[in-house]
Amino acid sequence: MTPEQVALIQQSFGKVAPIAEQAAALFYGRLFEIAPEVKPLFRGDMKEQGRKLMATLAVVVNGLGDLETVLPAASALAKNHVAYGVKAEHYAPVGAALLWTLERGLGADWTPELAAAWTAAYTTLSGYMVGEAYGRREAAE
Ligand code: HEM
Repeated sequence: MTPEQVALIQQSFGKVAPIAEQAAALFYGRLFEIAPEVKPLFRGDMKEQGRKLMATLAVVVNGLGDLETVLPAASALAKNHVAYGVKAEHYAPVGAALLWTLERGLGADWTPELAAAWTAAYTTLSGYMVGEAYGRREAAE
C-alpha cells in the first residue's frame, strides 16, 4: 500500500463515519445475501455488532500508515474469530461486502483508485489475519 492509498482510505472512511449505523446495516445485509452460510455465526445483537465492527475498522484505518501498530490487535481479533466459527474462506465474502458497502455509501466519491486502495488494504489485512489464525498455507490460497 502506498502513502497515497493510505490517505485515500482515511479520507473516504471519514465520509462514511457519520453514516456508520446505516453502513453497518448495509454491510450485514449484503454479507448475508452473498454468504448466507455465515448468518448463523452471528448470535448477538446486530446493532451492537455493527458498532463494534465500525469502531474496529476506524482503529485499523487510523493505523494504516504505521501497520505495525495494528498487527497485534489484528492477530488477536483473528484468533478470537476462530472460536466464533469463522473460517479462512469467509474473509473473501466479508471483503466483497465491505467494498460493496463503501461503493454504495460513497456514491460519486467511489473511484477506481479508491477501489484499488481499499482492495489492497483488505487483502493485506485479511491475508495477515488468516495467516495468524489458520496458518500460512490457507492464507496463500
Ligand atoms: C477485517 C476483518 C474483521 C474485523 C475488523 C472484524 C471485527 C469484529 C469485531 C470487533 C467483533 C466483536 C468481537 C471481538 O472483538 O472479538 C467481531 C465479531 C464477530 N465477527 Fe468479525 N471481523 C472481521 C472479520 C470477520 C469475518 C471474515 C467473519 C466471517 C463471517 C466475521 C464474523 C464475526 C462473528 C460471527 C463475530 C461474533 C458475533 C457474535 O458474537 O454474535 N468477522 N468481528
